[in-house]
Amino acid sequence: MDTLLVFFSVLLLLLSQNASILGQLDSSNIGGSGMGMGIGLTPPATHPTTPPLRLQPSTPSITHFVNDSFIIFCQTVQKDIDTKWRDPRGQTRENTKGRVHIEKKTTGPLALVFEHISLEDSGNWTCEVNGNRNGNRNVNVEREFLASFELLVNQKISFGKTEQVQSVREGRDALVNCFVEGMPAPEVSWLYNGEYINTVNSSKHNRLSNGLYIRNVSQADAGEYTCRAMRITSTFSDADQITILLRIQHKPHWFFNETLPVQYAYVGGAVNLSCDAMGEPPPSFTWLHNGKGIVGFNHRIFVADYGATLQLQVKNATQFGDYKCKVANPLGMLERVIKLRPGAKPWGPTRFQLKKLFTDGFELDIQRPHMTNVSDEMQIYGYRVAYMSETEFKFSAGNWSYAKQRDFSFHRGMRFYIPYLETNTTYLMRAASRNLAGLSDWSAVKVFTTATGCSWNPSLFPIYAIILALIWT
Ligand SMILES: *[C@@H]1O[C@H](CO)[C@@H](O)[C@H](O)[C@H]1NC(C)=O
Ligand SMILES: *[C@@H]1O[C@H](CO)[C@@H](O)[C@H](O)[C@H]1NC(C)=O
Ligand SMILES: *[C@@H]1O[C@H](CO)[C@@H](O)[C@H](O)[C@H]1NC(C)=O
Ligand SMILES: *[C@@H]1O[C@H](CO)[C@@H](O)[C@H](O)[C@H]1NC(C)=O
Ligand SMILES: *[C@@H]1O[C@H](CO)[C@@H](O)[C@H](O)[C@H]1NC(C)=O
Ligand SMILES: *[C@@H]1O[C@H](CO)[C@@H](O)[C@H](O)[C@H]1NC(C)=O
Ligand SMILES: *[C@@H]1O[C@H](CO)[C@@H](O)[C@H](O)[C@H]1NC(C)=O
Ligand SMILES: *[C@@H]1O[C@H](CO)[C@@H](O)[C@H](O)[C@H]1NC(C)=O
Ligand SMILES: *[C@@H]1O[C@H](CO)[C@@H](O)[C@H](O)[C@H]1NC(C)=O
Ligand SMILES: *[C@@H]1O[C@H](CO)[C@@H](O)[C@H](O)[C@H]1NC(C)=O
Repeated sequence: MDTLLVFFSVLLLLLSQNASILGQLDSSNIGGSGMGMGIGLTPPATHPTTPPLRLQPSTPSITHFVNDSFIIFCQTVQKDIDTKWRDPRGQTRENTKGRVHIEKKTTGPLALVFEHISLEDSGNWTCEVNGNRNGNRNVNVEREFLASFELLVNQKISFGKTEQVQSVREGRDALVNCFVEGMPAPEVSWLYNGEYINTVNSSKHNRLSNGLYIRNVSQADAGEYTCRAMRITSTFSDADQITILLRIQHKPHWFFNETLPVQYAYVGGAVNLSCDAMGEPPPSFTWLHNGKGIVGFNHRIFVADYGATLQLQVKNATQFGDYKCKVANPLGMLERVIKLRPGAKPWGPTRFQLKKLFTDGFELDIQRPHMTNVSDEMQIYGYRVAYMSETEFKFSAGNWSYAKQRDFSFHRGMRFYIPYLETNTTYLMRAASRNLAGLSDWSAVKVFTTATGCSWNPSLFPIYAIILALIWT
């Protein structure tokens, strides 16, 4: 009990000390920053009592952020004394409108009003007695008729026009740009993929005022660079950062070494020819047919960052031949030819029916024909099944382009299972055969309904019995 009492009294003592320290801090903060020397008031020895001019607030230097608003008064001891403000460039301010202006009430003190402070407002502002001494400001004798304060303007940290994705050339020296703005100017440090980069005495990295200099760039230098700006002053501290994705430029190279140099189609069918290549900057893709640009309505080209797929509706035998894909960026180019040859249109499935019903799927019984007088290569190798629920079918007005699809290949097994269906729901389905030349005609549409769920499963009876027994005891 005694030790507890001691503990609490020590605690109370500590708290009260802290409170007084806090109190001191608070009072020292009142009335602005209190930092800097400034000239302020210089009461001359001849007037030891009240000076003729007094600023309100009266701190010699005042700190504000850009866009802050602020007002300061110039008070005189004698009410009838006329005063005026001079800006840091020595110009007399008399405008009563504008971002920085004068407000004068007939009796009150002369006010200097800043709306949305800007960097250019920083400097020494002076209030002086308006007499016949105008233009003769550097007379020391008259210092008693002046009162001035220094306005310090701070600017938030920002990164201006710094690009968040930058790309540099492999094998050369490069600069990751980071344009830090802020007043006072912050310290900048760099991180690479979250790790601090030591730029002191480094043979690889150098910190420059406008970014990070990297010597002899290689692919290993690609990644995320964080430009971190931080500052600590006697009145405040803050920090901000921007992350830059650095890409290393390189000439295009293929995604896959092996693409089919020969593809097949049949007149009336469709085929996709694809061309995928990496490159930085992302390369352009061009398709040519027998050395000429592709014209007409029977094709569409789908372009992505790193590939272009040529989708052909084969309507005419003249569309067979050599298709060349050209890939280029400023660092290099690649090309590849795909020969499009006529193949045999596959025959549709000879049988398409339900094999087994589940609550969430169907197992299908699909049978293929053996295509006579075509090569083994052109034989059917799988099926495509398209399906939609009765509701979806009604919703899409019977348009099969909204159907879901599932592709089967015989080399992955001869079980044709459609999963992830809704319980107790009716589906419309159709099937087609696939061979190298494309898809057969669709089968007739079949209608199947998934099983209703939640039925009593007798095989689980022993488990139910055990659970019941456990609850009972
Ligand atoms: C200052 O305010 C203006 C308008 O209120 C705004 O457009 C501008 O971005 C602000 N500047 C800063 C540095 O906050
Ligand atoms: C304002 O006046 C003080 C005191 O004379 C001086 O130290 C400071 O450099 C001046 N500031 C500017 C921006 O001229
Ligand atoms: C950087 O190199 C100089 C000269 O070689 C050396 O004096 C200094 O200690 C080095 N600094 C660091 C941080 O390694
Ligand atoms: C640049 O780096 C590569 C390896 O990435 C190296 O082979 C080459 O010698 C380096 N060049 C210079 C000038 O350091
Ligand atoms: C592609 O082929 C080139 C040369 O034939 C070989 O060096 C490279 O390793 C291959 N790349 C892949 C992903 O197979
Ligand atoms: C070609 O690609 C499109 C888009 O991926 C696809 O919808 C279409 O079924 C493909 N055509 C063939 C014949 O594979
Ligand atoms: C196929 O194209 C050629 C050349 O454009 C044309 O002369 C021919 O009539 C076309 N054939 C058919 C069936 O459209
Ligand atoms: C199969 O051969 C017959 C007779 O030679 C021919 O009429 C038919 O077009 C051929 N079918 C295919 C799919 O090539
Ligand atoms: C089916 O929908 C697709 C995609 O919205 C559309 O392009 C096509 O014209 C429609 N077909 C019919 C027969 O309405
Ligand atoms: C199955 O669906 C039908 C029609 O929507 C409904 O009448 C029937 O009650 C449902 N059965 C079960 C077990 O949910």
